[in-house]
Amino acid sequence: MQNITHIYFDEIDSTNEELKRRYRSGEKPAGWTVVSAGHQTAGKGRSGHQWKSPTEDSVATSMIFYPKVRIQHVPRLTILAGMAVASALEKLYDLPTRLKWPNDVLINEKKVCGILCEMEPDGDHAAYVVVGIGVNVHQKEFPEEIRGMATSVDLALQKSGRDQKSSRRDIDRQIWLEFARLYEAFEKTEDLSALQEEYNSRLVNVNQTVRILDPLGEYTAQSLGIDKQGDLLVKKEDGSLVAVNSGEVHVRGIYGYV
Ligand code: BTN
Repeated sequence: MQNITHIYFDEIDSTNEELKRRYRSGEKPAGWTVVSAGHQTAGKGRSGHQWKSPTEDSVATSMIFYPKVRIQHVPRLTILAGMAVASALEKLYDLPTRLKWPNDVLINEKKVCGILCEMEPDGDHAAYVVVGIGVNVHQKEFPEEIRGMATSVDLALQKSGRDQKSSRRDIDRQIWLEFARLYEAFEKTEDLSALQEEYNSRLVNVNQTVRILDPLGEYTAQSLGIDKQGDLLVKKEDGSLVAVNSGEVHVRGIYGYV
C-alpha cells in the first residue's frame, strides 16, 4: 500500500495549485502527497471554470504522484478518481452511488463531486499527475443554476431516511485509500481490465439508450459499458460498434435530459 502524506489547510487558493507550487519548488517526496482544505478561495473546475468550495461544507482534496504508467494511459486516471469517490461513499455510508461516463459520480441521479486532473508531460511519461477532487458533503442547497443537477452526501443521507452525520475527514481519507487500491490494479496492466467489471456495475444506463454528442455529429446509441481502455462502447442504430473516447454522453433522466 502507498505511503500517503496528508497536509491540511483551513484556507488556500486551490489544492491543485498548492501541489503544483510544491513540485515546482523542487519538492518531490517518494510517496504520495495529499493536500486538502476547509475552503478554497480560487478553486478550479474543468474548462477554466471556477469551483466553489463553501467553508467546511465540502471536501477539497488533491493528490500529487509520479505514475510509472506511460503518458498515453494517464487520462484514464480520471476514471479511477470517479470510481474511488463512488466506492468511498458506498463503503462509508452505504449510499447508492452510480457513475456516468467518464467520471461523474451520481447519487439519486445528481452529481455529488467534481474531478480535475492535471499533469505535465516529460517524454513518454508524466513528470507528475495531480488528481483534484471536490465532494459536496454538508451543503443543504445549491445555487439556482446547478440546483437540479447537484446533491451532497448529507442530502443523500437525509433522503434515505438516515439520521447519520457524514464526516469530511473520513470521506477524504477513504477516497485516497480507494484510489490507491484501484491504482495498484491499473498500474499492473496499464489499463482497466481488472476494474472494468467494477466500473460497469455502477455505470448508469448500461444496455439502454444514450445520446452521443460527437463533435462530428450527434447520434443515439445503446450503451454497452466501458472497454479495458476506459472508452464507452456503444452500439449504433445501424448495428455498428463505436468506442467513444471524447465528447459528451447524455443519459436519459440525468441532468434534465429527456
Ligand atoms: C469540475 O469542474 O467538475 C471539476 C472540479 C474539481 C474541483 C476540485 S476541488 C479540489 C481540487 N482543487 C481545485 O482547485 N480543483 C479541484
